[in-house]
This record gives sequence, C-alpha cells and structure tokens, in this order.
Amino acid sequence: MDTTLSDRRILVTGASSGIGEATARAIVAAGGQVALLARRTDRLDVLAEELDGIAVTADVADPEVTRGGINRAADELGGLDGLINAAGVLRGGPLATTDPVEWRQLFEVNVLGVLHATQASIPHLTAADHSDVVNVSSMSGRRLGSTEMAAYAASKAAVHMLSEGMRRELQPDGVRVSVVAPGFVRTELFGERDTDLEQRLGKRADAVGLSTDDVATAIVQVLAAPPHVVHAEVALLNADQ
Ligand SMILES: NC(=O)c1ccc[n+]([C@@H]2O[C@H](COP(=O)([O-])OP(=O)(O)OC[C@H]3O[C@@H](n4cnc5c(N)ncnc54)[C@H](OP(=O)(O)O)[C@@H]3O)[C@@H](O)[C@H]2O)c1
Repeated sequence: MDTTLSDRRILVTGASSGIGEATARAIVAAGGQVALLARRTDRLDVLAEELDGIAVTADVADPEVTRGGINRAADELGGLDGLINAAGVLRGGPLATTDPVEWRQLFEVNVLGVLHATQASIPHLTAADHSDVVNVSSMSGRRLGSTEMAAYAASKAAVHMLSEGMRRELQPDGVRVSVVAPGFVRTELFGERDTDLEQRLGKRADAVGLSTDDVATAIVQVLAAPPHVVHAEVALLNADQ
C-alpha cells in the first residue's frame, strides 16, 4: 500500500460522485482516512463501507448542518488535517432568461458551501500540526468558456479569490490552502438536469475531458507535498482540450 498520506484524516465534500469520490478513493489508496460529505446518503454509505470511512449526510448550503457533520467526523476520526471542497453544481443559460433561483443555487453551493465547510473545519485544521484545504474550482473560474456559463464561472472565480484569502489568513496557523482548477472532467455534473446546455457540455467532456482519477491524482500530489511547498493554484487540462 502507498503510505504517502498515512496518518492523514481528510474530509471530502461532494464525495458521493465524480471528482470528490475519486479523490476519497485516492486518499485511501495513499494510506489516509476519509470522511465523506454530500447529500445522497445511500451513495455515501456504500462508499464509506468500501473505504472504511465516515459518511456525513449534509447540505453544504446549510451552515449549521455542515458544522454538525464536520464536528462529528472530526470526533470519529480523532481530528482532521485536511479538507477537500469538491461539492459543486452546474447551472447555466442566457442571463436574459435564467431563473434567478438557479443563480441562488449556484452561489449557495459553490461559494457559500466552500465558506461553510471551511469555517466549520478551521478549529480542527488549526489543531493539527500541519493541514490542508484544497478547493476544487474550475478552468471557468480563470477564463470564461461560453457566455451561458457566466454565472457558474463567476462562482468559480469567487473560489479563487476566497482561496487566496484563506491562504493568507490560515497559513500562519499551519493550514496550507490550494486551489485546483480542472478543465472538462467526465462526471455526472452535466447530467443532473438533462438540459440542452448540459448535454452539449457533457459531450464535450466525453470527447476532451480529464478522468476523475486524473484530478484525484493531482489533489493527492498537492496533499503530499512537503509542508513548505504550497501548490497555490493548479490548473489542469486534457492536452486535447
Ligand atoms: N466535471 C467538470 O468538468 C468539472 C470541471 C471543473 C470543475 N469541476 C468542479 O468539480 C467539483 C465536483 O464536480 P463533479 O464534476 O465531480 O460533479 P458531480 O459528480 O456532480 O459531483 C458533485 C458533488 O457535489 C455534491 N453536492 C452538490 N450539491 C451539494 C450540496 N448542496 N451539499 C453537499 N454536496 C453537494 C454532490 O453530491 P450530492 O448530490 O449527493 O449532494 C456530488 O457529490 C464541482 O465543484 C465542480 O464545479 C467540475
């Protein structure tokens, strides 16, 4: 067994599918222990059993539920020295016709969710000798792919700026903060609602996307770097994209 992350105790949000699930598997394969947070309990329970991890059913848009779940995970693992913020949703369309409810969902999960999970984790992360926060943003947060994705891209651009703020605030307490920004990745993100936009993006991801394992491998490298090396920002693309 790879022991790169042995003794690490890491909570992954968005762990019920896609990048979060692959990251949880990769952390365990590297010797770490995981807590798995998302809303779909059935999926979390199956994965927790397979990985000998802890399932935490929580909606990151709800700060108190998220805090309760993270505190319970830290209790059960005997502390936390890593947080992977991978929970996210995709909403898109022309600004002229998008239902504002969709903008609210985007920002509640992709932006406030990152803030809620991070704030709840801070007491545990700062109690560890050395710890990490890895925020999963997107290439969309660095440059706008299509106008239909402007609100999603804005939510991911916010993750970049929040990561910078977190790094400056938390690094003095031994918490290293990184942002990982993948281009297209083949996941369920494009299948949640089966809209025309999601179908187009899903086809593009199938054609030129990274695998979830590609992203998970990069995240494990970020976590395994020597404590003085910060991967402040990692942008990942399939060479064909
Ligand atoms: N796929 C791509 O091309 C791509 C590219 C760049 C960045 N990303 C980012 O990567 C991250 C993971 O997405 P993915 O592609 O792996 O898609 P995914 O398979 O749909 O995974 C999204 C995860 O987020 C969780 N989630 C959604 N809303 C939540 C909420 N309110 N509370 C808690 N968990 C929630 C989902 O679980 P539940 O439904 O069980 O709650 C699921 O585990 C997202 O932040 C996404 O923006 C994706």
